[in-house]
Amino acid sequence: THQWRGIIEEYRDRLPVSDSTPVVTLREGGTPLVPAQVLSERTGCEVHLKVEGANPTGSFKDRGMTMAISKAKEEGAQAVICASTGNTSASAAAYGVRAGMVSAVLVPQGKIALGKMGQALVHGAKILQVDGNFDDCLTLARALSDNYPVALVNSVNPVRIEGQKTAAFEIVDMLGDAPDIHVLPVGNAGNITAYWKGYREYADDGVSTRKPRMWGFQASGSAPIVRGEVVKDPSTVATAIRIGNPASWNFALAARDESGGAIDEVTDREILRAYRLLASQEGVFVEPASAASVAGLLKAAEQGKVDPGQRIVCTVTGNGLKDPDWAVAGAPQPVTVPVDAATAAERLGLV
Ligand code: F0G
Repeated sequence: THQWRGIIEEYRDRLPVSDSTPVVTLREGGTPLVPAQVLSERTGCEVHLKVEGANPTGSFKDRGMTMAISKAKEEGAQAVICASTGNTSASAAAYGVRAGMVSAVLVPQGKIALGKMGQALVHGAKILQVDGNFDDCLTLARALSDNYPVALVNSVNPVRIEGQKTAAFEIVDMLGDAPDIHVLPVGNAGNITAYWKGYREYADDGVSTRKPRMWGFQASGSAPIVRGEVVKDPSTVATAIRIGNPASWNFALAARDESGGAIDEVTDREILRAYRLLASQEGVFVEPASAASVAGLLKAAEQGKVDPGQRIVCTVTGNGLKDPDWAVAGAPQPVTVPVDAATAAERLGLV
């Protein structure tokens, strides 16, 4: 009877919904804010992880999708479309099913993680693999929604941002105030836009006394905001943020500048190091793109840019099971043993 009701019911008065909005929900949000002991020791700060992989489809996209699909249904849409590096499409596919709508998804060919493709498939989405990158997929999705009866549910749809801002509310509600710094990965730049909006609203209404500095991190091979120019052929192991021309570019710059924050880059090596640290030392299994936030925090700490004693929240955006290839790659093969306790004990180093 006390189950979390999903972000629309929990934050109804702060979202653009009315009594006549049909709420399409999988009870997203209410995700864990986990104290990160090793990261705290390394930085001399109080670091928390906002574990968005705990959402129903395994990423933060569900917060925006419950809003986008509910509003599309309210407006009478029968079909929705999105471009995606995988998580948005997984979420659109699931929420589409709940709403009884057709979901069409456009993904860059060969560049989305298997788990995400599996989600879109099992939920029965109509999938097109586009011969191009995410930016091409988004161009195509916009053209289709402009000219055909299908609603766009990418984060260029402002209600997606409205849903996603609730993660900032949850953090303030848990901590009692905003943190000093909020760190997150940046791809299409919708999420940094959304968090900043959420933090601003709570501060403006006096729910919090302050706003955090917003720190965003892009992957080095896909860092248009850092470079100040579109990246034509983005590349990174973190396929979720393999984006060369972010739709919310200007909003990300505003979040950075208004908050006194920063947008920087991390290499694939730094991303994978943070990915392994999170799994092996914090017990939190995330997908590579998610580790960009933590990689960025560690990089900043190594550069002496993190004053000790601060309260820091890193959003880890997606579940590690989405893209398990990186967990398996390079790890030793498990040994095979007979059904024999003595041998097993020896192999486990118990004797
Ligand atoms: N982390 C993950 C796991 C993502 O899937 C994404 C974006 C991001 C971070 C970056 O967030 O785009 O708001 O800056 N994934 C989108 C998708 C592009 O299609 O699933 P952003």
